[in-house]
Amino acid sequence: MRPMNKRLIINISELVTFEGAKALSGEAMSRPKKLHDAWILIEGEKILSIGTGEPPKAEAAHILDASGKLALPGVVDSHTHFVFAGHRQAEYNLRLQGTSYAEIMAAGGGIVSTVASTREASKDELIALGRSRLDHFLSLGVTTVEGKSGYGLDEETELRQLEVMHLLDQEHPVDVIPTYMGAHAVPKQASEEAFIDFQIETMLPLVMEQGIARFVDIFTEKGVFELFHSHRYLTKARELGFPLKVHADEMVPLGGAQLAAEMGAVSAEHLLHISEEGIEALEKSGTIAVLLPLTAFSLKEEYAPAREMIERGVPVALATDFNPGSCPSMSVPLLIALATHNMGMNMEETICALTINGAAALCLADSRGTLEPGKLADIVLHDVESLDHLSYHFGVNTVDTVVRKGKMVYEKRRSFVR
Ligand code: NIG
Ligand code: FE
Repeated sequence: MRPMNKRLIINISELVTFEGAKALSGEAMSRPKKLHDAWILIEGEKILSIGTGEPPKAEAAHILDASGKLALPGVVDSHTHFVFAGHRQAEYNLRLQGTSYAEIMAAGGGIVSTVASTREASKDELIALGRSRLDHFLSLGVTTVEGKSGYGLDEETELRQLEVMHLLDQEHPVDVIPTYMGAHAVPKQASEEAFIDFQIETMLPLVMEQGIARFVDIFTEKGVFELFHSHRYLTKARELGFPLKVHADEMVPLGGAQLAAEMGAVSAEHLLHISEEGIEALEKSGTIAVLLPLTAFSLKEEYAPAREMIERGVPVALATDFNPGSCPSMSVPLLIALATHNMGMNMEETICALTINGAAALCLADSRGTLEPGKLADIVLHDVESLDHLSYHFGVNTVDTVVRKGKMVYEKRRSFVR
């Protein structure tokens, strides 16, 4: 009898994957393994073996025919803010007419308006909102999603956001990785210093004690959290044992990238206005640059200097930054189009940045981000024959089938299995 927990995907037109368990940089980002007429044998949640030519059909109980399809590792979206209530479409339309994100923030809009609606939302409402967003992510080939808190800015709502992510992680096929971002904005009527004191004395120890966040992040920005208070917050988080992430140099070249490097952060994120010194600091420290082209598009800003970073040896990851303000889109196809058209990245670098380097930005590269024996069977089949189609069919969702931990969890022509 064939073992029931073995599944086989056969006739894969092209299989593209990087190899290894750490972030790639430089030319290695352009050199994936490409196999043709390939097969993948899955056992339980993991990949057992991969090959070309005659597949080991006798070994598997279930066989999936992937004729004419491209197979890639699932996208690891390493930067989102997907648990929130309320939308800010009026603000977005003002921005289209020329008002800046910073002006809206200074006028009392922006993050704090989402804070007000998220504080009012119940746990069940946030779960329902988060669930439908995860369904959407899955249909775009995303199998792991990082999510940041930061739309509560008070104890109760911050913990609710983290709990919602924890519950969604348990019920949904997409793996959810929660990040505590209590320092996302200074709440109304508080001072920056007093709010950071509250983070250091109360929130960071509490979040660590409850074990409900894998990372700590902060919005280091002129007029939000300046370098001095960011340094205090990150120092405490590091002392408690959290790996760090930093929203850095998004609006102005404040030096957030250097701070992230100095603090040994896993990643520095955004970096639209990174300075020469910032690039040098990331290069030396090996901090991953998480770049967010959908946000640059939405803010009508110049894109982060991806080409220069890659040439200087900085490991680059790409993520959506899905959130209700600066990036209300989770479109991976548009992200791919922007990376390849506007940031000078080739298709191979783009996939590297969305898979193995995204996984490394979440310290998960030992379990995912590549298609290799021993890694999770998080596999996306695209309805195209080869990788070069993904930049060519710009803006089009080519995802046909998503396999997560060895199970088919999304199939385009049917619906969700769950
Ligand atoms: O990553 N920059 C800070 N945080 C988000 C925006 C959040 C919002 O506007 O609601 C970002 O762009
Ligand atoms: Fe963000």
